[in-house]
Amino acid sequence: MRHLIDPLYLSVEETEQILNIADDICENMEKYSNKCDGKILATLFFEPSTRTRLSFESAMMRLGGKVLGFSSASSSSASKGETVADTIRVIGNYVDIVAMRHPNDGAAYRASQYSKKPIINAGDGGHQHPTQTLTDLMTIRRRHGRLDNITIGFCGDLKYGRTVHSLVKALSRYKGNHFVFISPKELEVPRYVIDEYVKKSDCTYEEVTDLSSAMPELDILYMTRVQRERFADIEQYNRLKDSYILSPELLKEAKKEMAILHPLPRVNEITLSVDDDERAKYFEQAGNGVFVRMALILSLLGMGNLDLNAEKDNHDEVVKLDVKCKNRNCITNMEDGTKPVYVKGENGRVRCKFCDEYVD
Ligand code: CP
Repeated sequence: MRHLIDPLYLSVEETEQILNIADDICENMEKYSNKCDGKILATLFFEPSTRTRLSFESAMMRLGGKVLGFSSASSSSASKGETVADTIRVIGNYVDIVAMRHPNDGAAYRASQYSKKPIINAGDGGHQHPTQTLTDLMTIRRRHGRLDNITIGFCGDLKYGRTVHSLVKALSRYKGNHFVFISPKELEVPRYVIDEYVKKSDCTYEEVTDLSSAMPELDILYMTRVQRERFADIEQYNRLKDSYILSPELLKEAKKEMAILHPLPRVNEITLSVDDDERAKYFEQAGNGVFVRMALILSLLGMGNLDLNAEKDNHDEVVKLDVKCKNRNCITNMEDGTKPVYVKGENGRVRCKFCDEYVD
């Protein structure tokens, strides 16, 4: 049995096969309409969602399967104090596969430790969002016909933007990509993303604060929302929330074939007038979410052309340490009995396996 907690749980080959299946589903939807007859997906959403939850539900229904779940922690027994570990041990008796979103970093990994059924991470705190990555990759590939040698600008809240962390990890495995991280200092991309993945890759990167001067070189502009719900200090959010607002004026210097992506929801970081620009691909991107999630469900259930229904080796080197994780949003600091697991990164630094926070 395989889970999808992080984009790197899929090899490059597996990722591309899922994208190929998603392309085929997009063209031949009817071929897939009975593939999951008799199967049930649970959507366990402890945190709000529109696209991810509903596209998962649409995906399972379009495959002929059924769906159950909840859309907020308040309507589940989490509100009475039930842990993720207990929830997942129970739900595993009811369904064949689980998509789970949770406000704490590492919650999906925690669930996978106890689950008898495949767990798909539908977003864990400000950490990872691997199925958004599949959606993003499908959109980029359809626009540019490749996933390598692309200059991609990530703009906005790169600290809490889990979709950015996951997409950078995935694209770091392709040759020649150049990442331009555009953010205020306070919202820069976490060091583990750069040190563990970008620096180890055949890709290059720069960190800048100005969007307009970066614009002319970009093949993709990936805008993000400043994530109010992750800020401990609301004053800081108010100071930073309008850092970047993409307008037709700013786009004058952009390449004609550039694509503007955004995981959505947007607040004000892309003006409505940009929607009419041929380069605005964020609604198409959201639509692709159904195709990639159909392909993923099929693959994790071993019912498609790609069978992911087999164990995969985990080569992380575990380091024995008896300290609390420094990340106050890590699931290990939230639920009794959840002990941190530490692993050695490729650069020798030790980090929490749940949330990737460095120990030192
Ligand atoms: N992109 C994304 O995760 O959107 P939702 O929060 O609406 O699921």
